[in-house]
Amino acid sequence: MAIKNVVVAGGTGALGTPITNALVQAGFNVTVFTREGSTSTPPAGTSVKQVDYKSVDSLKAALAGQDAVVSVLGSFVIGEQQPLAEVAVAPGSSIKRFIPSEFGINTRKTRDTPIGKILGGKTLLVDFLTEAAAKNPNFAWTGISSGHFFDWGLTHGSLGLDAKTHTATIYDSGNERYHASNLPFIGKAVAAVLRQAGTPEDKTANKYIEIASFTPTQNEVLAAVQALTPGQEWTVVHAKSDEAQKDAEERLSKGDYSTFLPLLSVWQFADGAGHAPDQADPAFGNKLLGLQAEDPKVALAAWLGK
Ligand SMILES: NC(=O)c1ccc[n+]([C@@H]2O[C@H](COP(=O)([O-])OP(=O)(O)OC[C@H]3O[C@@H](n4cnc5c(N)ncnc54)[C@H](OP(=O)(O)O)[C@@H]3O)[C@@H](O)[C@H]2O)c1
Repeated sequence: MAIKNVVVAGGTGALGTPITNALVQAGFNVTVFTREGSTSTPPAGTSVKQVDYKSVDSLKAALAGQDAVVSVLGSFVIGEQQPLAEVAVAPGSSIKRFIPSEFGINTRKTRDTPIGKILGGKTLLVDFLTEAAAKNPNFAWTGISSGHFFDWGLTHGSLGLDAKTHTATIYDSGNERYHASNLPFIGKAVAAVLRQAGTPEDKTANKYIEIASFTPTQNEVLAAVQALTPGQEWTVVHAKSDEAQKDAEERLSKGDYSTFLPLLSVWQFADGAGHAPDQADPAFGNKLLGLQAEDPKVALAAWLGK
């Protein structure tokens, strides 16, 4: 049966807002779950329910009559998804599809790695959903790996580009292809998954997929930035991935979770990392969902005010 009623848990957040907007635009009835007492503003065109993410009773009542859950809870509250998932998969639940708060690098590949220690909560939840779906033919999940948030990463410094100081940090040769998506593109992907779900066209039931706006190299992005800022000198800082990895692992072993960004940079940018999706692969999410690749120059121009 096709999906109509969709809950977005964390639909007020950085990614939750564009996902919610895409779902409203695609014609779904969207209910945003927000914490009791939250002052966040839900996107227009949605119903809003305040929930207690720790209370099964609160979640059970709020999920009644819903067809799908998209969880976009933030990085620091990934564990909060567990009761939500337990209620969604329980016997008698109306939820037919659960999209967990993945939306980053492919956590099916990070198990038993240093960065995987930080992402462990995401891995456990996908394991839980996989087991639940194996027992219940009426329930399915879809995991979406989007790589770096590109538009968001430009303004939040996670791509190594600083428009104030005109500095670019480049790992190794800068020629490794990496995995990146703009936030509205991820919204379109979520809407496409739910449009297919429960129909004969469904290609993502119980699958972990990779989608990408594009897979550029650091040098290609820097060249585009330089072309957009004629006459402006950009300082290039060269970083060595083996040194950055060693330093981050040492700090992580002492419990320093602020090492996520250097570990992520090495995971994506190091020479030979091999973590950009293969766009020719028939299992590439863009192909399964009919999504068109984007041009990184559009987000770069917006970031630079061009
Ligand atoms: N690939 C990347 O580059 C990248 C970058 C950032 C994030 N991510 C991933 O994207 C997903 C969504 O992240 P995001 O940055 O969009 O999330 P976010 O904006 O930090 O948070 C999303 C929502 O979580 C809700 N929330 C529930 N309990 C909370 C609590 N105890 N404290 C704070 N917020 C709480 C809040 O909604 P209410 O206030 O309405 O309850 C908030 O709006 C995560 O899986 C994250 O790891 C990926």
